[in-house]
Amino acid sequence: MIADTTGGDRRLAAFATPAPLPAGAAPAGEDAGWAAARGAYRRLARAADPAALRRSSDLLRAAVHASLAHLLTECGVFAAGDVREEDEVLAALGAAPEHRPLARRWLAALADAGRLRRLPGARWEGLRTADAADAERAWDAAVEGTVADLWPREVVELFRSAAGQLPALVRGEQQAAQLLFPQGDSRTARAAFGGSLAVRALNGAVGAFVRAEARSRAGTGRPLRVLEVGAGVGATTDEVIAALDGTGTGPAADAGTAPYVEYVYTDVSLFFLNAAQERHAHLPWITHTVFDIDADYRAQGFEPNTFDVILGANVLHNARDLGRCLARMRGLLAPGGALVLTEATRERPELMVSMDFLIGAQLGGEGFADDRAGSGGALLDAGQWRERLAAAGGVAPPALPESAADPLAGSGMALVAARFKPRLAAPDPGELLDHLAEQVPAYMVPAHLQVVDELPLTANGKVDTAMLRSWLPRSAPARSSGWVPPRGPLEERIAEVWAALLGSERVGRDDDFFHSGGDSLLAARFAARLRETLPAAAARPFDAVLRQLTAGPTVAALAAWLALGAEDAQEAQDGQGAR
Ligand SMILES: C[S@@+](CC[C@H](N)C(=O)[O-])C[C@H]1O[C@@H](n2cnc3c(N)ncnc32)[C@H](O)[C@@H]1O
Repeated sequence: MIADTTGGDRRLAAFATPAPLPAGAAPAGEDAGWAAARGAYRRLARAADPAALRRSSDLLRAAVHASLAHLLTECGVFAAGDVREEDEVLAALGAAPEHRPLARRWLAALADAGRLRRLPGARWEGLRTADAADAERAWDAAVEGTVADLWPREVVELFRSAAGQLPALVRGEQQAAQLLFPQGDSRTARAAFGGSLAVRALNGAVGAFVRAEARSRAGTGRPLRVLEVGAGVGATTDEVIAALDGTGTGPAADAGTAPYVEYVYTDVSLFFLNAAQERHAHLPWITHTVFDIDADYRAQGFEPNTFDVILGANVLHNARDLGRCLARMRGLLAPGGALVLTEATRERPELMVSMDFLIGAQLGGEGFADDRAGSGGALLDAGQWRERLAAAGGVAPPALPESAADPLAGSGMALVAARFKPRLAAPDPGELLDHLAEQVPAYMVPAHLQVVDELPLTANGKVDTAMLRSWLPRSAPARSSGWVPPRGPLEERIAEVWAALLGSERVGRDDDFFHSGGDSLLAARFAARLRETLPAAAARPFDAVLRQLTAGPTVAALAAWLALGAEDAQEAQDGQGAR
């Protein structure tokens, strides 16, 4: 117990560590959650036609390789017989720093396909060239030959369109986000992330797992607390919601008999949360908030030992440092809690020319800070994931698909999972506080109780109270005093659109959109909403509004630009240059 004076008043705060379960109390035998997941997966995977999937996947790979070969042919870096250093190739492509790792992966993929030769010392030669017509033919065949169980046709068209814009994408002149989420719309991306049979089967397994876990605590009065990280367009969430439908999932009021779930839907980008909030408006058991898997969870308003399940669908490979990220996930999980991940386990050529640009954009020029640094590759296979989970203290069941005989074994997707702290009792902070209230006078009952894996110790073995104090929740920082309200109807209207988009309580005329929670995806949506709402914005092309928003991301700057005549507006943009 320590005194907490951070908020001005003196309050007591307590920290507790979970006790080991009594001998014989640890769960034995088959884990019902994993069994449910495996059963659901097998039922769904049975529908797969492996030969058709393979054919379709081969056509797509050939199309991507033709586009990459065309890209390298066009930049003239492999004229007859040239041997090139890797850096020379990247320079010829004009690869932006954040996309250099991806460009290296392209070279490796072309080499694996026999279209380029790798020489010792990161040098390359012998490109099998391709022209525009070769690439077009290959894409025609890929679109024609696609089976919906691999990718819906519209998604293959999206890959094709991205492949057609590789020169600008790799230079960083074109943002992949604008392609995948045109004008801030996520419908195509939703189809892409949730559409393939492999993804549906794995998400079905995740849904069945959450349902089984929720059921197992029906009647206990304690909700199953689920955190989804990088929930994005919500393909996995959709399956969990479907799996829970009919189980009477509801808020605490129904908790007497029905299983109930508290689901925290998070992503690093607010962009995804707005759309999800609208979709989930009728589901009060789902809340939405920003969460970055690369950052300290306490600083983001989360506490340790507070979740029973953490879900991450194609997200954790984005972690800058996977070991540290897994340690954070372990910290967030209550004893016996499960981390459930679906992950791509090998390079998918079609993603290498589309979605993977987003990873580069996310990590910036810095790249990974773990043993993947410099390798260019972000992905691990199922065995490597299980090793990492075990190294982080998890107990991992076999991955799905389970063997090479699985009809979806060739999909390059897997579900990997682990339970953490299975031999510890899960304390309930509410019950602990009630218990304390019976034992000590009211003024000694702590205002805050946090369950931590272990108490931090100083160098001489005493409890480190300074560290404990730093673990207490902080209230939001006070707003700066220089706040200036919007001036006039145009600024007020812009501020309203902004506030609705970012969920801001108030928007000042000089606030910076990108420092207020906005990002490039939200900027696209902001530009689209401004054009829907304001005639002055509707009169300008979408791209011009977006450019302006990037160059001058304040209400005042936007209003001033919108108030100009069309020619003056263009001149003003030319003067500002791109940000
Ligand atoms: C490939 S998408 C998967 C989306 C979703 N889970 C699904 O399967 O439909 C990756 C998601 O991870 C999110 N993401 C990337 N880096 C992240 C980070 N550091 N913390 C949290 N989320 C992150 C992205 O914003 C994106 O929504």
